[in-house]
Amino acid sequence: MSETDKQAQPLRVALLGCGVVGTSVARLLTEHAGDLAARVGRPLQIVGVAVRRPDKNRSETGVDPALFTVDAEELVTRADVVIEVIGGIEPARSLILRAMKHGASVVTANKALLAEDGPRLYEAAQDCDVDLYYEGAVAGAIPLLRPLRESLAGDDVRRILGIVNGTTNYVLDKMDTTGASFGDAVDQAQALGYAEADPTADVEGFDAAAKAAILASLAFHTRVSARDVYREGITEVSAADISAAREMDCVVKLLAICELIPGNGSTDGNDTGHPGDGISVRVHPAMIPRSHPLAGVREAFNAVFVEAESAGQLMFYGRGAGGDPTASAVLGDVVAVARHRVVGGRGPGESTYAELPILPMGLAMTRYHIRLDVADRPGVLAQVALAFAEHNVSIETVRQQLLSPDPQTPGEGRASLVVVTHTASDAALSATVEALAHLSTVRAVTSVMRVEGE
Ligand code: HSE
Repeated sequence: MSETDKQAQPLRVALLGCGVVGTSVARLLTEHAGDLAARVGRPLQIVGVAVRRPDKNRSETGVDPALFTVDAEELVTRADVVIEVIGGIEPARSLILRAMKHGASVVTANKALLAEDGPRLYEAAQDCDVDLYYEGAVAGAIPLLRPLRESLAGDDVRRILGIVNGTTNYVLDKMDTTGASFGDAVDQAQALGYAEADPTADVEGFDAAAKAAILASLAFHTRVSARDVYREGITEVSAADISAAREMDCVVKLLAICELIPGNGSTDGNDTGHPGDGISVRVHPAMIPRSHPLAGVREAFNAVFVEAESAGQLMFYGRGAGGDPTASAVLGDVVAVARHRVVGGRGPGESTYAELPILPMGLAMTRYHIRLDVADRPGVLAQVALAFAEHNVSIETVRQQLLSPDPQTPGEGRASLVVVTHTASDAALSATVEALAHLSTVRAVTSVMRVEGE
């Protein structure tokens, strides 16, 4: 076959899965076939769509019904590009490995699989000399992974603060703006189709933790799996926390934080508790000032704030989920890997040369906001301050407000003490809260929340 004939040959595309994202991918591949061919340099031809129910009417995809098949294992052996949008660990992992073995490049949006077994897949892609692209796995439509892997490859990323789960952002936003309870806000998120019938993966932070692992791996050239990520969801965020944040001119967000923590060797004598550089990868709710760019991220939108040594601060914002937004990221990857097929070679693979240690949560450096209900009598403030001093935690601000007496203890004065700390290790801060809770003058610790984004 002549070179000209080869250039006219379509690239064979197999689609695994035809749910919300798969349907959008199939439809856009069909509707934009002409433009995509022009951008790639060769036509993209759908050679099959693997589904569980091939007889279901999927006319909205524009794909010939004869191309729907249940035999995904066979389908992946006759494609140049395999798009995996089934989700979950198996059979997605086996199918991806099989596709690569048969020479196909793979595009996937499967964050759970990448966060669980990414290194195995990256190695397989390298061994098979094919591409593995996964822009749609984190923050849907937002171009984020390629900027981290390619545009920032010459810089040193210091920190990533991300709102990477739209459902929890919607819930926290409703709690803040309408005063809805956590349960009511989850109900609204379900009614709008953001939250699943079982919202555990979102509200307990599993989805965000998988995304944090992928972001940290790319940012710090280190293997990070979901198991390495410290995780707290939003189920414990109360109306009291939301109103405490408002009093501080802050807003509560579920943040995915990936951070380089310099070791003792690279600081001015500050004891960071570990000799060399390490990374902290964590997901938890935190207060951020309303002036921070992430505070304005409303509803179910995603946004990721990146700080790099030379670039400074960057912000990526957009739709983090949904059929068409995720399909946009998937198709961007399809065009990229298809172009590599046309010109030969593959894109940059994963780099894990740094292999930085992943530090335990206790060594993460953060600030706390703590609200206490205390007895209003002489010496209480001194006792509270001593608990902070004994744990080497420095107080940034203290605010006291008198409360009306508790009917159960008439005649005893009550006050609310709001303390915001300077930065300290999470271990020191949580030990301080534990000590405060045991003071006889502290009636209750009514709100504890980390503060980020200063
Ligand atoms: N359930 C996710 C979210 C979308 O609410 O952002 C898929 O990652």
